[in-house]
Amino acid sequence: MFGKKKQKPLIDANQLELIENAQKRIKQKKRLYVHFVVFLIGALFLIVANTILGIGKDVTFFGKEWFVFAILLWLFFLLYHVFNVYVTHKFMGKAWEKNQLDKLVAKQQERIDKLKAGFVKEETLIAQSEVYNKTLPKTQNPKPKIELTIIVAAAENDAIGKGNKLIWHLSDDLKRFKSLTNGHHIIMGRKTFESFPKPLPNRTHVVISRQKDYKVPSGVILVNSLEDAIDAAKNDAQPFIIGGGEIYKQAMTLADKIELTRVHESFEADTFFPKIDTSVWKETANTFHSKDENHEHEFSFLTYERK
Ligand SMILES: NC(=O)c1ccc[n+]([C@@H]2O[C@H](COP(=O)([O-])OP(=O)(O)OC[C@H]3O[C@@H](n4cnc5c(N)ncnc54)[C@H](OP(=O)(O)O)[C@@H]3O)[C@@H](O)[C@H]2O)c1
Repeated sequence: MFGKKKQKPLIDANQLELIENAQKRIKQKKRLYVHFVVFLIGALFLIVANTILGIGKDVTFFGKEWFVFAILLWLFFLLYHVFNVYVTHKFMGKAWEKNQLDKLVAKQQERIDKLKAGFVKEETLIAQSEVYNKTLPKTQNPKPKIELTIIVAAAENDAIGKGNKLIWHLSDDLKRFKSLTNGHHIIMGRKTFESFPKPLPNRTHVVISRQKDYKVPSGVILVNSLEDAIDAAKNDAQPFIIGGGEIYKQAMTLADKIELTRVHESFEADTFFPKIDTSVWKETANTFHSKDENHEHEFSFLTYERK
């Protein structure tokens, strides 16, 4: 702040280059001028040496004295020097080189721009192509696709719970839930989370609540919206929405798949699963399970995929 003010350079790099070039040109022209003067003196000296001092008086070529050829040869070198300074420099000097380079760069840039324009056009066409979007197998789709899956057990009347509890106990259904969700993110509403005695092992729990200060055990992720819950599970190829009624309702438009256990009876309940619209969803698997000593009700494992 109180130190010496830094001196700003008075000329920029371009100006410096111009000055250097000008100095070089002056030197070249000076050298040519000196050459010319030396040539005049030298030529005079050769004439005097031969005609007055008699040096090589008897030496002739094609009937002419040797100094004529010596002067002509020197003149040739002098002309070559003139040519270099005025012609070669002008056409093939630094400015000429730069000009050629600029032309080349401009041409290359033009080609790059053309290629870019073509590429963007092609990319847009591919992205817009319905065939590409609809027929490419999932594994070839460049965007890693998350298969957001709803998993639910619902009665024939879509009942899923009463008094924040499940209505039935079906051991094979619980086994299926465990095996499908094992190792994945399970996204749930705050009420469903509270219906568990404790978090389930080997799953990442994502709990949705509007309460910012809702306390969850360590390892459980608390979010304030369904979108944030899905975002929290974005590195999971198949996150599961596990309920309850409120969350299922909101997730129906976002999910890619439904793993439904349809319990073939109707029950009294306070929480229900939304109707499955068969114009949106197609059934892709259906396995019937009859009643037995461990299962009080008949049920079927159904899979629905978005059409
Ligand atoms: N049969 C099955 O497969 C199944 C599966 C799961 C659950 N269930 C049953 O379903 C019942 C529970 O379902 P439920 O509908 O009452 O409750 P829920 O969906 O589990 O949780 C509702 C709570 O989630 C939070 N929430 C909902 N939408 C939100 C949003 N957009 N943004 C932020 N927070 C949001 C709110 O928490 P805050 O109030 O804290 O803000 C809300 O009170 C229970 O009976 C349970 O046993 C059945």
